[in-house]
Amino acid sequence: MDISIRRLRKEFDRYPALHGVSLDIASGELLALLGPSGSGKTTLLRLIAGLEFPTSGAVFFGAEDASQKSVRERNVGFVFQHYALFRHMSVADNIAFGLRVRDRATRPPEDVIRRRAAELLELVQLPQIGNRFPHQLSGGQRQRVALARALAIEPQVLLLDEPFGALDAKVRKELRRWLRELHERTGHTTVFVTHDQEEAMEMSDRVVVMGQGRIEQVGAPDEIYDRPASAFVHGFIGDSSALSVTVDRGEVFLGRRSLGPLAAGLPDGPARMLLRPHDLELTAQSAGAIAGRIAAVRRHGGARMIELEVGDKGERLEVAVPASTPICPEPVQAFRPLRWQIYPAG
Ligand SMILES: Nc1ncnc2c1ncn2[C@@H]1O[C@H](COP(=O)(O)OP(=O)(O)O)[C@@H](O)[C@H]1O
Ligand SMILES: [Mg+2]
Repeated sequence: MDISIRRLRKEFDRYPALHGVSLDIASGELLALLGPSGSGKTTLLRLIAGLEFPTSGAVFFGAEDASQKSVRERNVGFVFQHYALFRHMSVADNIAFGLRVRDRATRPPEDVIRRRAAELLELVQLPQIGNRFPHQLSGGQRQRVALARALAIEPQVLLLDEPFGALDAKVRKELRRWLRELHERTGHTTVFVTHDQEEAMEMSDRVVVMGQGRIEQVGAPDEIYDRPASAFVHGFIGDSSALSVTVDRGEVFLGRRSLGPLAAGLPDGPARMLLRPHDLELTAQSAGAIAGRIAAVRRHGGARMIELEVGDKGERLEVAVPASTPICPEPVQAFRPLRWQIYPAG
């Protein structure tokens, strides 16, 4: 099911939580809504689900305007972070719930419902736990049952709001891989919300980066990481440091020192230079190098992270060098930027 979101605006007490967001989601896509807390991710998901109605704008499911339709009419399945299973129902009854509450005309016969619940338990790799109760399951198992329950109604669209948010890091990582594989098998159009960039980058076909009720960028994970559209996206995705620089006819100045013609085509004036830790190399003091005082050195996996204090504003630049690099005792070091992005200040 294709979903088309057109200039969707949502105000709560006249405060806009979404400012006219437009987005096309392709059938079968696994899409992540990623952004800091309060950026409007849940609001957008609830508007797609029909749990909330827009102040203006529309949501299309295929060619049909679904904006005023109910959750049930839209036939969406959803899972939330704290979406409790019904405590007094067995796992199988939890999964069957959405089918049993249908009116008689659309409700499948009881034996079909039972078979479907058993198939879904197979699908989420929890066969033979149908008779257990939620309190007898681990957190990861509960979220998989919640997902089976969402899938039971054969939804056109699956909406997940931080489904693994409450679980510990290791279980989350397993469930991520598992959900990706499940998605590949079932092919549901899936939109999931996360504030965890690693989760978004690892799992999804495309990532929608949100900030303050707006879409900042939409793209494949590589695109978002390698060509961030704004300083906000650059800073939010992956590690990066920002330096205040000045652009003058394409030449970039850090204080009064020129770093060279790095900003062709950018307007003159104050700008932000963003650099990822692995995108600099140790060099001798020379023209074009960024020099600074080493403020801290720490080990980080296979790399050594150096925090360099740069310029007269005391800005910090984080640089990763191989752990084998001998760090000379001199407190001042210079690094050559290999890759960078420059954005107008603002
Ligand atoms: N029901 C509501 N009533 C009033 N304000 C709300 C409501 N839901 C969300 N908001 C506000 O809308 C903004 C976006 O919230 P939300 O969509 O939950 O963000 P996210 O999921 O990205 O953390 C926030 O400022 C939040 O306080
Ligand atoms: Mg949220």
